[in-house]
Amino acid sequence: MADVGQVFKRTDLPNPLGEASVYALSNGGKRVRPLLVLATFLALGGDERDFQQVRRAMLAIEMIHSYSLVHDDLPCMDDDELRRGKPTCHVLYGEAVAMLVGDVLQSLAFEVLGDDVWGDVDDVVFAKLTKILAINARRMVAGQQADLNGEQRWLGKDELERIHQDKTGALIQASVLMGAVCARACDETLAKLQTYAQLIGLAYQVQDDVLDVVADTKTLGKPSGSDEKLQKSTYVALLGVEQARAYADDLFDKAKQQVAQFGDDNLLLQLVAWLQKRGY
Ligand code: IPE
Ligand code: IPE
Ligand code: MG
Ligand code: MG
Ligand code: MG
Repeated sequence: MADVGQVFKRTDLPNPLGEASVYALSNGGKRVRPLLVLATFLALGGDERDFQQVRRAMLAIEMIHSYSLVHDDLPCMDDDELRRGKPTCHVLYGEAVAMLVGDVLQSLAFEVLGDDVWGDVDDVVFAKLTKILAINARRMVAGQQADLNGEQRWLGKDELERIHQDKTGALIQASVLMGAVCARACDETLAKLQTYAQLIGLAYQVQDDVLDVVADTKTLGKPSGSDEKLQKSTYVALLGVEQARAYADDLFDKAKQQVAQFGDDNLLLQLVAWLQKRGY
């Protein structure tokens, strides 16, 4: 994330917004989404000349993700005070600033995606990336509304799957698709990768539901038991811990089948293996 300093220096946001935005973006996290962009690009044998666009996409997706977390933690949403082992953005900077951090990270994501400071921008690739990012950022927000609507209610599997596919799966799908577009993948490959991304996106949130129950706050870096406190609709509430775990594993296994064609032990397979055994 060496590029972060450069972007914030240039945009010169007034404080505390500038400082809080850097905090929200650079305070740790697993960086799963940028890694997915990169792994997809490399697994498809993307051209070195397109690498600057990959860097732009990696930063843009992490900006949208970080904005989603800042808003997700607000008192009017999940009301959590710890994120990535540190105080949440609104705890340090107040709610008004946290709201603005989300807003500005969303704008900046699109700004950096087409930033020619890092080299030439291919207009066709940029248009495709913008569309993918915009649609999936909107889907993430729709999923957050559906998640709120699902509090204190019993939801069936289909409804819950839709929430998870939107609130979490959407940005994971965007990551994979952006990596593939940067590698100039054909439609057939894009379709395979779309299925792969749908499977790991859903599995990722099922795991998050499980970890909320089985892992402690220190390990998670965010409050354990947050879902139960708000009576959220989760896969643990629906299936119980063991079945939810098994369901996530099943989804990951299916995801592996989708990308086996890219070679033994390719990066997309390695990423699934890493995600499958994550403990936070
Ligand atoms: C947390 O995402 C919220 C979900 C969408 C599950 P991550 O678990 O990827 O969070 P960080 O970025 O590593 O902190
Ligand atoms: C988060 O779901 C989804 C988004 C932030 C879009 P959660 O509310 O379960 O995520 P955590 O557990 O707070 O990271
Ligand atoms: Mg939430
Ligand atoms: Mg939350
Ligand atoms: Mg959660």
